[in-house]
Amino acid sequence: MRKPVRKVVFPVAGLGTRFLPATKAIPKEMLPLVDRPLLQHAVEEARAAGIEDFVFVTGRSKRAIEDHFDADTELNRTLEERGKQDALEEVRHSEIAPGRCFYTRQQVPLGLGHAVWCARALIGNDPFAIVLPDDYVQGKTPCLKQMVEAYEEVGGNIVAVVDVPRERTSSYGILDVEKDDGRLATVRGLVEKPKPEEAPSTLSIIGRYILQPEIFDHLEKQQRGAGNEIQLTDAMAKLIGNQPFHGLRFEGTRYDCGDKVGFIEATLAHALNRPDMADKVREMLRKYC
Ligand code: G1P
Repeated sequence: MRKPVRKVVFPVAGLGTRFLPATKAIPKEMLPLVDRPLLQHAVEEARAAGIEDFVFVTGRSKRAIEDHFDADTELNRTLEERGKQDALEEVRHSEIAPGRCFYTRQQVPLGLGHAVWCARALIGNDPFAIVLPDDYVQGKTPCLKQMVEAYEEVGGNIVAVVDVPRERTSSYGILDVEKDDGRLATVRGLVEKPKPEEAPSTLSIIGRYILQPEIFDHLEKQQRGAGNEIQLTDAMAKLIGNQPFHGLRFEGTRYDCGDKVGFIEATLAHALNRPDMADKVREMLRKYC
């Protein structure tokens, strides 16, 4: 039997420079899509995929993250006393159960691979997921759940992928594909941020991964790659050949919230997907279009 995926890592130590000064005192992952922080959307996606243990790799000035997922008993009591049941339910929904969230810090920004490596003791010898909250994914079935379902079929390591225009390959990890059935691509190599003319394909990795713990043997070597950073993609490439490695074309739309316009688009997409506000937002948008 395959070990189920029950743990997730959220690498959330980034400085959020693209959103300064908004992110001077607030972690960028706490910027909201409507009324839930980006990171809460990521936590909810993980929960829907059967994740039980939540590991956050944070950094200095990220304390708001811990507070957000904690239970604020005083706030809960006040909402209860005032009969604000809806707000109370929303707040309770943001809590992570006691003993199920873990925080560690990436002390120096050496790259995504290094951030994930910082979680090694908390992951131990289990398969685990990684979710980058900057990538907000909307779809009928949450993206990570689709990946867990694919994992139950093929095991090993899985990354969520999407086709990008060739001129965009230098922003992503790109797959070198051996076989492709239109849904699952068997991967024979991975390149981080290749130039368009050097990219082995246009299938790019989005911020969703299911990985085997052997990834830590490779991250341990702390080798630098693209941008002189310790790249997760390079460590993943070393797993290929020893373990199954697939790219999953998920069903849904990815929004890049690391980019300002992408963030606005994600906000609108989320609002238009909510029965409580879709009509009003659509009407409001007509004024501008
Ligand atoms: C990271 C990864 C890259 C991946 C991307 C997805 O890059 O290194 O392989 O395609 O996330 O969002 P970053 O966006 O941190 O530069």
